[in-house]
Amino acid sequence: MIKFLFIALLITVLTVLVAGLRITIQDSIDLTFNPEFQLSNSQNEEKRLIQTSSSTAEWMTEEQVFGLIRNKIKFMDITDYRSLGTKYKAFKKHEFPVTPAFQDEVMPLINNLTTKYMRKNLEKFTSFRNRYYKSKYGAESSQWLYDQVVTIVKNSNYSDAILSVKQFPHRWEQKSIIARFQGSDDDKSNEVVIVAAHQDSVNMWMPSFGRAPGADDDGSGTVTILEAFRVLVEGQFRPKRSVEFHWYSAEEGGLLGSQAIASHYENLGVDVIAMLQNDMTGYVGKKYPEAFGIVVDFVDPDLTEFIRKLIKSYAQLPARNTKCGYACSDHASWRKAGYPSAFAIEGAFEDSNPYIHTSNDVLDHLSFEHMLEFSKLSVSFAVELSHI
Ligand code: BES
Ligand code: ZN
Repeated sequence: MIKFLFIALLITVLTVLVAGLRITIQDSIDLTFNPEFQLSNSQNEEKRLIQTSSSTAEWMTEEQVFGLIRNKIKFMDITDYRSLGTKYKAFKKHEFPVTPAFQDEVMPLINNLTTKYMRKNLEKFTSFRNRYYKSKYGAESSQWLYDQVVTIVKNSNYSDAILSVKQFPHRWEQKSIIARFQGSDDDKSNEVVIVAAHQDSVNMWMPSFGRAPGADDDGSGTVTILEAFRVLVEGQFRPKRSVEFHWYSAEEGGLLGSQAIASHYENLGVDVIAMLQNDMTGYVGKKYPEAFGIVVDFVDPDLTEFIRKLIKSYAQLPARNTKCGYACSDHASWRKAGYPSAFAIEGAFEDSNPYIHTSNDVLDHLSFEHMLEFSKLSVSFAVELSHI
């Protein structure tokens, strides 16, 4: 019996390994000149165009994409967004402030932040079996999150024209969510500042059915910005330039939700002044002293310099530069569209949460105090960049 189980296990492991290998050695498409890259998806109905490096993409089945996730191969699903960044019209370059200047407005807001709601929200958010974008649980968790944002808005006395929330639908069930403070300055009506996180989670072994609490990835970012949003609403925040909070669907599917929204904004000609991604804000690593990880690749260097200044002014932790080494989260979709984006993570990339994408990405490994520092960054980002 034991022998039989061992052989079965061996066969499973070999199948997974071979599937992974097949993917890496498959014919690839050179993004720089291959005309097939621009072809429609008609002969490839069930396949997706998956970019695995800066210059290559391959048509893959869902099973092959699952193989990438299992083998920790980095990818972006560019099937529907092959023109992302090609229509972008260069807006006049906005300079970021030399120094933060709205302490009087930011400080009382920050003082109203609390871990209480973050904990309560994250407990519920991690109780969905998973938040995979194609699973029914992913659709349910998205609806629950939308209801929380709506409740915060309903408890305020803003008019609908000044504070609104909407669900952004996709070709899959899990919707992205966008909450918007309408800017008061008509001269800036086409401009927006974005604070974001992704709401989906994934179990790398069984994406659709496996347990994926995604407490850190990215439940932490989700509640970090929800708490920032709550204090801004309670504080009657009224920016000159519009500010939006985004909770993306399908980041784990290859940055799908953020690409859809970035490409929509690019088509509309919206002038995105700055975008800040919050993905994994809750785990304090063991290798280095506690700090913000400031991602310095696939981001805008000037905006990144400005978030260092915000951290110095408003947070209680130092900042440490780090790199993902690839387009690891939704900031990359905005950057690809041509807009300035920045990304703060829980610490150095190599010191980040080892449990992500498994059933063990749970609350016990996280620090709410650590997350709260990121809420301070989001609040100050929204205020300082929307009044100038
Ligand atoms: N949260 C991760 C990225 C990350 C990992 C940030 C470690 C900071 C530290 C993100 O959700 C993710 O899993 N990204 C994918 C790539 C994505 C394009 C599918 C990944 O890293 O494999
Ligand atoms: Zn992830």
